[in-house]
Amino acid sequence: MKKLKIGLMENRMSRRHETQKRLERKQEHIALAVETGVGPGSTRFEDIRFVPQGIGELAWADVSLALDVWGRTWKAPFYINALTGGSEEGQAINRSLAKIASEYGIPMAVGSQRIALDDQETMKTFTVVREVNPDGIIWANLNAKSSVSDAKRAIAMIDADAIQLHLNMAQELMMLEGDRDFRGTAEAIANITTEIKIPVIAKEVGNGLSAEAAESLMQLGVSGLDVGGSGGTNFPVIEHRRYHEDDGFLADWGLPTAISLLETVKTAKTLTVFASGGIRDGLTVAKALAVGATAVGLGGELLRVLVKEGEKAAFQYLERLINELTAVMLLMNATNLDELQRSPYLITGPLREWLEIRQL
Ligand SMILES: Cc1cc2nc3c(=O)[nH]c(=O)nc-3n(C[C@H](O)[C@H](O)[C@H](O)COP(=O)(O)O)c2cc1C
Repeated sequence: MKKLKIGLMENRMSRRHETQKRLERKQEHIALAVETGVGPGSTRFEDIRFVPQGIGELAWADVSLALDVWGRTWKAPFYINALTGGSEEGQAINRSLAKIASEYGIPMAVGSQRIALDDQETMKTFTVVREVNPDGIIWANLNAKSSVSDAKRAIAMIDADAIQLHLNMAQELMMLEGDRDFRGTAEAIANITTEIKIPVIAKEVGNGLSAEAAESLMQLGVSGLDVGGSGGTNFPVIEHRRYHEDDGFLADWGLPTAISLLETVKTAKTLTVFASGGIRDGLTVAKALAVGATAVGLGGELLRVLVKEGEKAAFQYLERLINELTAVMLLMNATNLDELQRSPYLITGPLREWLEIRQL
């Protein structure tokens, strides 16, 4: 009996220790994401250029940004991407982000819920999102190698409308304590897509999905892809900076967001494709939508504004993006997102070269 008690105590202590380590890592991620900024490479959206239309036929009030995705209406083609949870700071951030998502009628993904599956005390840092936004669209988030039962628990925790499964090999490999065994990922994704009834979204976290990855993920039964390209938050750099003074050898790894988006939309034609990675202004948003993204994900930049300038500034940041997108739609004579997606544009420079070589 005494042995069993000691065993249980040891278990609880090692769980506490694991939670503590995860909390510290999450705090470091927020601080470093805010501090290191974006890049070093670009998203390559500069290689896409709209051909301005007409002489002006619409008024601001004619433009509608609304869209329907998986049976729900979004007021605008944005979603707040997976960022945090776990710590007290994460809870405060999630509360603010949920208020923004509720105000603007857009979905929000929570950060990885692994910590709350292993330590119930941290659950409230995620459930706050559902409390603040009871009728909103909320997405769960776990590593792609998770089990079906963990996915079900993560979904139930926040009554999620969809689940994001993140693929982050480059990040893990730059993390001293990171995963080194990626076997079984495809099988885990297939199990989840078979058993889970809500949409499953596979996402990268800043190193981009390729056409080959998109093809595999489509075969595995996911409903959506979030390209998570490079040019924005750089996780290989963030992980390296946790222990070193320089950026590390994978600072320029992966596919810039515009490349990853075109690789993905041209391959996974039946899937809903979301663009994220370095999205920070309305013109870039319009370009991402025009080349085939259903909506764009807001990550590091929104977090930076929130952490550095506060909640009001974060609301204003979203307002700015909505106004900028509306302005570009006026310039392109597009009253709605379908019309924007039929807008003429040219692809030049390295992006065009890439697509030609890849025969996409
Ligand atoms: C501090 C921080 C924490 C993040 N945590 C997660 C996470 O838990 N799960 C996940 O799928 N993505 C996570 N991401 C990745 C973002 O969802 C997004 O894919 C990535 O930051 C690229 O978008 P961005 O350039 O707009 O930041 C995190 C990003 C940041 C900045």
